[in-house]
Amino acid sequence: MTTELRVGIAGLGSVSAQILPCFRDLPGVRLAGAADQRKEARDQFSKNFDLPVFADVESMCRSQDIDVVWVATPNTVHCEHAVAAANNGKHVICEKPMAVSLEQCDAMIDAAQKNGVRLLQGHSKIYDAPIRAMREVVASGRIGRIIQIDSWNFNDWLQRPRLASEVDTNLGGGLVYRQGPHMVDIVRYIAGGLATSVRAVTGRHDPHFNTEGNFTALIEFEGGAAASLGFNGYGYFDVTELTWGIGEGGQQHPDPRLKSRKPRRAGPMEADDKYRYVADTAPGEVYARGRRMPFFGLTVVSCERGAIRQSPDGLYLYTDTGCEELPVARGHGRATELVELRDALAVGRPVFPDGTWGRATLEVCLGMLQSSRERREISLIRQVPSV
Ligand SMILES: NC(=O)c1ccc[n+]([C@@H]2O[C@H](COP(=O)([O-])OP(=O)(O)OC[C@H]3O[C@@H](n4cnc5c(N)ncnc54)[C@H](O)[C@@H]3O)[C@@H](O)[C@H]2O)c1
Repeated sequence: MTTELRVGIAGLGSVSAQILPCFRDLPGVRLAGAADQRKEARDQFSKNFDLPVFADVESMCRSQDIDVVWVATPNTVHCEHAVAAANNGKHVICEKPMAVSLEQCDAMIDAAQKNGVRLLQGHSKIYDAPIRAMREVVASGRIGRIIQIDSWNFNDWLQRPRLASEVDTNLGGGLVYRQGPHMVDIVRYIAGGLATSVRAVTGRHDPHFNTEGNFTALIEFEGGAAASLGFNGYGYFDVTELTWGIGEGGQQHPDPRLKSRKPRRAGPMEADDKYRYVADTAPGEVYARGRRMPFFGLTVVSCERGAIRQSPDGLYLYTDTGCEELPVARGHGRATELVELRDALAVGRPVFPDGTWGRATLEVCLGMLQSSRERREISLIRQVPSV
C-alpha cells in the first residue's frame, strides 16, 4: 500500500458535497476517484477533479489505485457496496445508517473481518468534538455516575428536497432511519453504549409524505441511566433557536426566527430537480471545517453531582459551585472519519466507531420502529460499549 490512503467516493449525491472538501490539506489521505450511476454526476466530478470516475461501484472497488471506499450511496445498497469493497481488499467508511437490516450489517462486518480491512461507521455524531468532550467528562467520573440524557432536535428534515426513496421507510428512508442514528449515537456514546431497551412512538403526520417525520423515544442503559429523545422534522420550529443559532455543521445564523419560511413541499422530487438543487446549494467548506462547534440539537447530560450541555465553543459544566465553561478543541469536521482511519492504520489499532457500533445503533432505530408499531418496549441484545 502507498503511504497515502487513496479514497474513492461511492455516490456523488447530496452528502458528497460535504465529503469532497474534506480532502483539502489533509496529510496522509487523498481523493483518488469516484463512482456514480448518474452520468451528470460523473461528468461534474471529472470537471472538478482529474481523477478516475466509474459508472458502477464494483468497478471502482476492483481498481488497484483505491485503498478506501467511502460508501455514500442510498441506504439499501450500503451492504452491497461495502461487501464489494471489502472483498476487493478495500477499507470501508459507510454513511449512516449502516444498512437497512441487522442481517445486512452482519454481512458487512463478516466481509471486513474475513478480508482484514477496517469498516468504519461514517458520519456519526460521535465525531463531533463537543460530544466527545461530554463523554470524557462522564467517563472521568468527575460529577458522578450518569443518570439521565435528554436530547431534542427540531428541524425541517422532511421539508428538504427528497427523492421518493428517501421518504419510503421500506427503503431505509424517513426520519427514524435517516436521522435516528445521529441522536442514538449521541446518547449511546455518552451513556457508555450499552442500551438495554427502547420504547418509542414514531409519527407520520405530514399528509404528503407517508414516512416518519417525528419520534419520541425512551432508552434504558446498563447501569440504570435513561435517555429521552425527541425529534420533530416537520419544519415548523428550528432547534437552533435554542443553540445560539448554531446548527449541525457549526454554521451560525444570526437569528433563526428570521429565517424566511419557504412554501411547504407537497411530495418528493424528481431526481433531476433534486440534484440540480443539490448542485446549487452545496455546503462546501461550511461542513468541511465548520465555524463554531457543531450542534445536533440540544442535549443535556445529568450526572449524580452535576450536569453538562454544549456552549457555543465548548461545554457548560453545572455543579454545586456554579457554571463553568470548558473549552473544547475544534475537531476535524467531516474529515474526522478520514483522520480516524488514517491514524488507526498507522498504528495497527481497530477503528471506532466500527461496524459493530453501527449495527448496535441500527438495532436501536429498528427497535424504535418496532416499539411504535407494537406499542411495547423492545429489548436490545446487539449493543457494544463506547471506546
Ligand atoms: N443528505 C445528507 O445530508 C446526508 C448526510 C449524512 C449522511 N447521508 C447518508 O448518505 C447516503 C447518501 O445520501 P444522499 O443524501 O447523498 O443521497 P443522494 O440520493 O443525494 O445521493 C446518492 C448518490 O448515489 C448514486 N447511486 C444510487 N444508487 C447507486 C448505485 N447502485 N451505484 C452507484 N451510484 C448510485 C446516486 O446517483 C446519487 O448520486 C445515505 O446513506 C444517507 O443516509 C446523507
